[in-house]
Amino acid sequence: MGKFNLFPEQASTFAPEVDHLLYFLLAVATFFTVVIFFAIFYFAIKYRRRSASELPPAGHTGYTLEILWTVIPFGLTMVMFTWGASVFFNQSRPPADSIQIYAVGKQWMWKLEHREGLREINELHVPVGRPVRITMTSEDVIHSFFIPDFRTKQDVVPGKYSTVWFNASKTGKYHLFCAEYCGTNHSAMIGWVYVMEPADYETWLSGGAAEGSLADNGKTLFESLACSNCHKTDNTGRCPNLVGVFGSTVKLATGNTVKADEAYVRESILDPMAKVVAGYEPVMPTFQGLVTEDQILQLIEYVRSIGPKPTPGAAPVSPAPAEKQASPGTAPAKR
Ligand code: CUA
Repeated sequence: MGKFNLFPEQASTFAPEVDHLLYFLLAVATFFTVVIFFAIFYFAIKYRRRSASELPPAGHTGYTLEILWTVIPFGLTMVMFTWGASVFFNQSRPPADSIQIYAVGKQWMWKLEHREGLREINELHVPVGRPVRITMTSEDVIHSFFIPDFRTKQDVVPGKYSTVWFNASKTGKYHLFCAEYCGTNHSAMIGWVYVMEPADYETWLSGGAAEGSLADNGKTLFESLACSNCHKTDNTGRCPNLVGVFGSTVKLATGNTVKADEAYVRESILDPMAKVVAGYEPVMPTFQGLVTEDQILQLIEYVRSIGPKPTPGAAPVSPAPAEKQASPGTAPAKR
């Protein structure tokens, strides 16, 4: 520390993209500010009224000038729009092979959970050079997950899931903030992101899975909440068999369809009447108030684990396959 930086470090693949766009916007804004500032002075002096009787001649600005000052700003703003949209789309589309991590915000801390079972508070460990997707929700009010060095920020809203992804480009320790005023200790809702070499990350991951993976805990919960009494795996239950459902398109009683993603599983647990599967009676009770956000994430991971097997290169279901996922050019993760 002690060094004054105008910009945060560029520690993700987004950082240069966002910064280049910002430099462009600043350059355009500065250019026009300077030009207009001096033009005001120049014209004020050049066309000042020289006598009380002086009247300006009636005239019309040339069309060339009017067309120019319409077309040029239009072109510039369209460049800003398409450039900004492409950065935005890139940031909103996590690659399919991203590492999946969950975050739950609550007053006033960040809880981060890895699928392998590791839980962290106000700390997040990720490997360098791998896309990481974070599915987030809040237990109370709106928070905002902000890592300035990665140029990534996303609101974390109670009652729904939001997603961020990033690909950290440098190992190191980076600030994690809450960027939405969320009460008295909002300013203390901060943490650190540790970007590690893939091999170190694997070592770290394997160091603390004593509590079992999210999917394993979800399976235990699925049985203890008696979900398995109705959601039987041999299709004889009163509720749909959940094997192979995650990620698929589900037909509903209303004739509509829905993609079985995290949000759908969450809704089905808390509000089972919202989207009843075609061919089934609306008999499931709500689990609102009976399961925490953490437990819902475990159930989602369980449903994901019995879903279709991931295609090669997709995010691993269990910790084991993660070892061969180190991206080309980085240190091999095999031990
Ligand atoms: Cu959470 Cu501010």
